[in-house]
Amino acid sequence: MRKNFDVNSWLYPQPVLIIGTYDADGKADVMNAAWGGQYEADQVMLCLSEHQTTKNLRATGAFTLSFGDVAHAVACDYVGMASAADVPDKMEKAGFHTTKSAFVNAPIIDELPLTLECKLLKFNEDGNVIGQIVNISADERILDGEGKIDTAKLDAIIFDPIQAAYRVVGDKVAAAFHDGAALM
Ligand SMILES: Cc1cc2nc3c(=O)[nH]c(=O)nc-3n(C[C@H](O)[C@H](O)[C@H](O)COP(=O)(O)O)c2cc1C
Repeated sequence: MRKNFDVNSWLYPQPVLIIGTYDADGKADVMNAAWGGQYEADQVMLCLSEHQTTKNLRATGAFTLSFGDVAHAVACDYVGMASAADVPDKMEKAGFHTTKSAFVNAPIIDELPLTLECKLLKFNEDGNVIGQIVNISADERILDGEGKIDTAKLDAIIFDPIQAAYRVVGDKVAAAFHDGAALM
């Protein structure tokens, strides 16, 4: 037997994307976004309502996307509840520090180790943000012995919209594009 739950925004799991932007005066802001993902091989999509972040995007044409982690789960939630439009010291309250990207006019969050650096391509016909990935940077602390990104060291969290919770991404259970071949 299965139980029906009508219609809900329950695509699970959802990412915890922390969007970094500068305002027209160069002040950094970050916000939490769950509704987003890969759009083309080198592009991302974000489904955004009007925020200080969208105002900033229109002003600068650039943003960064970092991935929320266990150590900063509370700060990631906070930046999804407070707006820089209302809280001028939002970044200080979150405990986030930033460094300007060398590739785009947008801030990298020092505390979050993996970041996509993106140019705004457009707000599409549905009002969604389409961004071009121009660089991906990672803090050395999440690299393995060969200098590759070790996602196990990222301690990434996901958003669970069903229980309104953040959960940690867990162990590797199979090799992608590989282990399925055993059934071919
Ligand atoms: C878990 C979570 C997910 C969110 N996802 C989105 C989203 O996908 N799109 C959106 O427009 N707002 C989303 N928000 C709300 C914004 O992060 C929030 O309105 C934030 O305060 C905007 O900050 P700003 O005005 O400083 O840009 C989310 C908030 C949380 C807590």
